[in-house]
Order: sequence, then structure tokens, then C-alpha cells
Amino acid sequence: MITPPRILLCFLVLILTWNTHANTQPQQHAIATAHPLATEAGMAILRKGGNAFDAAVTVSAVLGVVEPYSSGLGGGGFWLLHRANDGKQVMIDGRETAPLAAHRDMYLDKSGEPIPKLSIDGPLAAGIPGAPAALAHIAEQYGVLPLQKTLAPAIKLAREGFMVDAYYRRMASFRLTALRADHTSAQQFLLEHQIPPKNHRLRQPDLANTLQALAESGRDGFYAGEVARKLVTGVRQAGGIWTLQDLQRYQIIERQPLIGQYQNARITSASLPSSGGVVLMQMLNMLGHFDDLDQQNPADRTHLLVETMRRAYQDRARYLGDSDFVDVPLNHLLSPVYAKQQANSIDRYKASISSPMTAGKPEGADTTHFSIIDQQGNRVAATLSINYPFGACFVPPGTGVLLNDEMDDFSIKPGAPNAYGLVGNQANAIEPGKRMLSSMSPTFVETENQVTILGTPGGSRIISMVLLGALEAIKQTPVETWVNTPRFHHQYLPDAIQFEPHALSENTIIQLRSKGHKLKPLNNQYGNMQAIIWNKRTNKMSAASDHRGIGKAVIFPATD
Ligand code: GLY
Repeated sequence: MITPPRILLCFLVLILTWNTHANTQPQQHAIATAHPLATEAGMAILRKGGNAFDAAVTVSAVLGVVEPYSSGLGGGGFWLLHRANDGKQVMIDGRETAPLAAHRDMYLDKSGEPIPKLSIDGPLAAGIPGAPAALAHIAEQYGVLPLQKTLAPAIKLAREGFMVDAYYRRMASFRLTALRADHTSAQQFLLEHQIPPKNHRLRQPDLANTLQALAESGRDGFYAGEVARKLVTGVRQAGGIWTLQDLQRYQIIERQPLIGQYQNARITSASLPSSGGVVLMQMLNMLGHFDDLDQQNPADRTHLLVETMRRAYQDRARYLGDSDFVDVPLNHLLSPVYAKQQANSIDRYKASISSPMTAGKPEGADTTHFSIIDQQGNRVAATLSINYPFGACFVPPGTGVLLNDEMDDFSIKPGAPNAYGLVGNQANAIEPGKRMLSSMSPTFVETENQVTILGTPGGSRIISMVLLGALEAIKQTPVETWVNTPRFHHQYLPDAIQFEPHALSENTIIQLRSKGHKLKPLNNQYGNMQAIIWNKRTNKMSAASDHRGIGKAVIFPATD
């Protein structure tokens, strides 16, 4: 992964000028996840002597059991790690890959039009999962506890069950038709084909057995042997294209995270095949040309942020894809010269117009994020997904593994030229073995005195949410405030500012309209941010779990 040399140099200067009065170890642990049971399981592992990486394995696995609509063994994700003893920072890329039999036009009909739902429901929608390999790798390379210990809470919750809550019911109702269409999914996630009532105990014995196999045999417990055979048989019998070879050849990749600088902060975020870090850095690089951003009135500030979002998301649609398969002009996109040129193209008084092109469609909105720091200063920001709520709504019989529908994150109909001859999304076209472009953006923001760990689900809106959060973290706004503040978003196309209820005042809306912006008020809130701040000067921690979700953030001493 390329980090432009100038950014590295700036970063080095930044580090050398930071003073040394800051604490180097937090002395406390903190965890923020989207589900209380995952937070509690992570706490228990840290209390048993595990480190943040062990807790990350536990939390990932438990979330896959109790939030089956968001992530799981049948999905993938990005785990951003910082190891305290040597400062190593790495992104574990456990993103799904396209099966070897996949091809560019596999979701198109004879006339070249997308076949509805084919990339969303059922086994053809599923990429080869990366989560099990990522958990095995993190445990082996970074943890201090064996998988038998770190997966035990998830195995127990899968076997003994957890209580269905209102959030689960909402997600299941959204995907009820697709869940009913697959016999095994209906058995696992519904009750006599209906949404289970609140406080129904949902048991997943097949999933417990698969987790057990992973605990006993590591990655081979999933990608080889009986589990692999059942996965492939189930997929193929239902019309899918997976082979045993797809599973055997799946590899996680340790990637260099993307590192950038904004004002006095170092930003570390996801590298390709997530677009998150690139788009985030592009926006921050542009914003670096507006020193007066925070002196602006709300309308003018929103305008500047929206215009940087518009430009960065346009480049996302044009250029980004799996850089192991396509050339992505990263040096150009992240160069100071380009940032200046882009910033100069922003008119403070007038909205730009997003000219039509083959735009990326919004990605599935269901995903999960957690943030962890341990007493030694090891930290993890991880964003995990199976894409749409309940993924592909397909469980290969006998596995308990709900498969993702991340294939829908590829560009299903790439290369169609628009009226201006622009060709969009070719970089994200389907190819065998390729990783689909993601927006997941686990991020660290570091200033002299403060470390912030943040991320959120939310499809294509993830990156703008992380931008808004990071800007507040740099200003040292309390974490509970910015995690819960109403949000706005622009993604080039559709050419409109989307905003949550109460995100923009009436006056701001009027002023934005007068600049030429189109506005799209949303009825619902979005995102489910989980964030932690460690103030290195006071050695105090703060943590927040988004009030939009049902998660839990805790800070607790290393020993009671
Ligand atoms: N499936 C959501 C993402 O990867 O961005």
C-alpha cells in the first residue's frame, strides 16, 4: 500500500515535535461494541489475562452469534491493530473474495440488465468468507490465549441461546421474505416462520459446532474437513458456485493501513480494498486548505464539508477497487497537489453539480463495529459485515453459518458509459478471487495528548460519519457528544445532502438551498458508532456506544 512520501515526512516531524509528558500505558481497559453481550464477553477475556487482540477475537465471534443480521463467520471485515510494545500497526484484511467461478456479468440477464436480488439473496450472492481465517490469524499472531478460550463465550451463546430483542425483530422483519425462502435460515432465525417474540431464547447449535471446529482446528476447522464440505455442498445444491478450492485458497492479507495527517493529528485508517481510508484522507487533505473551517457559520461549514465529500466520493466511484487486481492511482489521489487543486475548485458560495456518471450504488447498510484498548495500550478498531441485514439469508445445512451477500458490493454492471462517455466502476468489476470494494473504515486518530479509536456501520455513509467523528475528536469534543450528534452526508450521486432529523437547522437548510444544494431529509437515523478516547495526559478514558443502537461501552480497571 502506498503512503505518499510527503505525508510520511510530515508525520515524522509531527511525532518528533510531540512532547514526552504523555502516559504510555492507559492502566485501564475499554470496550465499545454494538451489543452488551459482546462487550461483556470481551471484558471477561481481558479479565482472564487476554490482551486487546484476544478480546477482539471474542467480541467478533460473539457479535456473529448475537447480531446475526450484522456480521458472522459467513462474512468478513477489517481489523485495524496497534501493538503497544513495538508500535506495529497493521490492518488484517479478512474481506470476502469472489469465488473462482465468478465472472463479470454473472448477475446480468441476456439483455445486460441486472437480475433483481441475484446478488443479494441466496448462495450466488455470497463471497468466500474471511472472518474465520482472520480470527485464527489474530489469535495466532497477536493474542496470548488459545482460540479454545477466546471462542468459548460465542460457543456458549450459540449453544445455550440469547434473548431476542426489539432490534433483532426489526432486522428480521426487514428480511422476513428472504429468511422464509431458505428452510435452514427460517429454522435458525425464525420461529415457525414468524419473527420470534421478544425474550425468545434463540439457540444456534449448528453454529456452536462450527465455532467449536474453528476453536479446535484453527482455520482448517472452517476451510477444510467436514465444515468445508457441508458449506460447499449446501451452496452448490442451492445453485451457488463455491468449490472446496475456493475455501482452501482463501487467505487473509496483512496490509499497511493508510496513514495521513490533518492539522495536529495522525489518522490511521483502512487501506484498499476498503475505500474508507482513501476517501477519508482525500477529504481531510482538501479540508486542510480551509484553516477557517471551524470559524464558519453552520451553513458555510456544512457546505465546505459537503463539497469535499462530493469530490472524494466521485473519485471513489471512478477509481477505486481491489489494488491487487487493478491499478489505482493512489499517489495521485492522495497527493498534496491534487488536494489543493480539488480544494481550489470549491466555490464557497455555490454548490458544485455532480455530473452524471455510472455511479456506485449505495452499499448494504448492515455491518458492525467495535473498538477496544487494553491496559498496555494495545488497540483494535474493527468493522465487520455480512452486508445486508442477515446477509444472503442462506445457511448451508448443518453449518449454522449465515452467508454474506457481499458480492453485491462489486459493481454489478460496470463500464456502461454515460452521456459524457465517462466509464465508472470498472475498477470494481467482478473477477475470480478479487475482493469487492468496501466502505468499512476502522480508524485511529492520534494527537499529542489523545488517542481515539472509532468506526461505525452504515454502508457508503460510513466514511462521512468517520470524517465528522474524527474532526470532533481532534477538537477534543467529548466522545458521547459527537457519537450521538445528528449527521449529514453527500456521496456525489445522488446529488443531494442527506441528513438525519435535527442535523441541520431551518436557517442552515435555507442557506444551503440558496447556495444551490438539494436536500434530502431522512426519516430515520443511521450509523451505530462505537468509540473510545484515551487522554494520554490525564490518563483518563472515555467511551461511547451510539444511542442509535443497543450497544454498550465500558471502561474498567485491569484488576478489580
Ligand atoms: N458491505 C459494506 C461494506 O463493505 O462497506
